[in-house]
Amino acid sequence: MEALVADRRPDLVVVSGDLTQRAKPRQFRQARRFLEGLGPPFLAVPGNHDVPMYRVWERLLDRYGAYRRHFSPDLEPSFRDAELEVVGLNTAFNLTIEDGRFTPHQLAAVRERFLGDGSTEGDVPKVRIAVAHHPLAALPELMGWRTARRSGEALTAFAAAGVDLVLAGHVHVAAVGPAPDRGRRLWLVHSGTSTSRRGRGTERGRNTCNLITLDTGPQDAGCLRRSATVEQMLWSEQAERFEVEAVHDCALA
Ligand SMILES: [Fe+2]
Repeated sequence: MEALVADRRPDLVVVSGDLTQRAKPRQFRQARRFLEGLGPPFLAVPGNHDVPMYRVWERLLDRYGAYRRHFSPDLEPSFRDAELEVVGLNTAFNLTIEDGRFTPHQLAAVRERFLGDGSTEGDVPKVRIAVAHHPLAALPELMGWRTARRSGEALTAFAAAGVDLVLAGHVHVAAVGPAPDRGRRLWLVHSGTSTSRRGRGTERGRNTCNLITLDTGPQDAGCLRRSATVEQMLWSEQAERFEVEAVHDCALA
């Protein structure tokens, strides 16, 4: 991973949850050190593994305490630069050990979080990206995993806020596909398993990650092209590096 990041030098590293296996302080500190060591800015949201499962009192009374103290105080960070706006949403709650959910409060705030700074102004709209841990729609590769509660409302809220890409994880399988129609072209981009051995299906025991390249420049006179190219990277034991497994060209709205 370090070599891939050094080679491609992304503007941002996004981690869509499950930074740890058992939400232990030491694991959070390791995750923080690892991400800081990569170099570029990073944005992460909690996954279900980042909430204590067996430390029941902690799960009930201070479910994000270890995350906040040892990884980041911000459970829903944002990132902005000249080209993109990224908003993280926490879908990992203590009473849903594995399944995730969006809250009505979160979804009511999505539009404000994306549009609150008047960022629609300008010749080329920024690419807007929402990040959550749990799946929002049943892409074929997701093998029957349940979607987060209120996923339908979340997609509607994202479309209304001008979101282009929704990044998620949780299912240990990489997948890219269009979201169910919400009146705006919206792409779902799932990360597989980037740093542990918990990959599933064809990714069993193999690490994957996605490299997303944005194209927001003018294509012809007066004709804007906005697109995202997603390279699905799969670790090759033989070559000892990540190699391109598939490429998806996602035309944006
Ligand atoms: Fe998960």
